[in-house]
Amino acid sequence: MKINVAIVSVSDRSSKGERADLSRPAIEKCLFDIASLSVYECIPDEKSIIERTLIDICDNKKAQLVLTTGGTGLAPRDVTPEATLNISDRLVPGLSEEMRRQSMEFTNKAMLSRAVSVIRNNVLIINLPGSPKAVVECLEIIKPVLHHAAELLQGEVSDCARE
Ligand code: MTE
Repeated sequence: MKINVAIVSVSDRSSKGERADLSRPAIEKCLFDIASLSVYECIPDEKSIIERTLIDICDNKKAQLVLTTGGTGLAPRDVTPEATLNISDRLVPGLSEEMRRQSMEFTNKAMLSRAVSVIRNNVLIINLPGSPKAVVECLEIIKPVLHHAAELLQGEVSDCARE
């Protein structure tokens, strides 16, 4: 079964139509064999809008996995991690830790990422960086565990260690 994925692109410029959102097709291409896109939103870097969008997807839509892209750096309007933490039930730090750790092989700027991974209403939310190149680099790192994560969240796996 493919994972139902929602993509939330967080970008002032893309949300106004001033720049094409190239991260969405990059995510779809990278995950085409394990996931299908059910929801797509392109919104500005506004904390309240990000929170509202994530709540709506996790509580009212069928998505099992929400991938945000953008707004995880240090610029004043980079607030995706704060919005994500504000609406979370539980944290999944290992995913973001590992993306940062392995991304250091691509660029030492990876240590500037403030991305977080959380669960809300048994939906996994993962912050990714904004650039399509960075998105693909990060997704390839966590892709091997996404299916298992979705099974765990649905209560379909009772004992990981036996697999
Ligand atoms: N991770 C990978 N794998 N590749 C990258 O090029 N760019 C970094 C970092 N993580 C990068 C990366 C940079 S330059 C920044 S500022 C942060 O992600 C945050 O990116 P964002 O502000 O586009 O979300």
